[in-house]
Amino acid sequence: MTKRIRHSLILAACGAATFFFINASAAEPKKKVVKKIDPTSGMIIDENWRTVQAMCSSCHSPKLFTNYGGTRETWTGLIRWMQQKQGLWEFPPEIETQILDYLEANYPPGEASRRRNLSADLRPPNPYTSDARAEYEEKLKRGEITPPKITIDPTGQ
Ligand code: HEC
Repeated sequence: MTKRIRHSLILAACGAATFFFINASAAEPKKKVVKKIDPTSGMIIDENWRTVQAMCSSCHSPKLFTNYGGTRETWTGLIRWMQQKQGLWEFPPEIETQILDYLEANYPPGEASRRRNLSADLRPPNPYTSDARAEYEEKLKRGEITPPKITIDPTGQ
């Protein structure tokens, strides 16, 4: 075998190997990712879940955020709101990144997001209502006053 032929054979073998390698990885069926849920907290388990469990479930149930959904911006806004209004502490940046990575990946906006309030006539009676409010509602029921027109944004905002 001449040097030249040997060289071409080696090249061909490498080519074939590369071809099979690429093909094999492309042909691998896409696995459906089934998310594991921690039975105690109800939280989705991933590489950051322990951090989030430690940082986000001391004041309230994790259900508050497992029932919520949002973009990274929404989650960031919610954390800032809790920091300003609810006594939530500042997180070191790397911890905040882990928290946001977790929430963004596992609780995106969607069906599970906070729903709109029910309309007034579907809500149970408000036990804290004032006399003035009760009188107003009575008059509304009797049709003596017309309720203010509230336009509803179709995007639900
Ligand atoms: C220092 C206490 C504290 C910690 C820690 C805390 N929260 Fe909260 N959070 C609150 C309070 C107080 C409320 C308001 C509770 C209520 O409405 O009953 C709240 C409300 C919420 C809500 C509901 C907001 C809504 O629109 O009703 C979500 C979601 C939430 N927190 C997520 C988180 C996440 C995610 C973390 C971790 C980054 C976290 N919380 C950590 C105090 C805290």
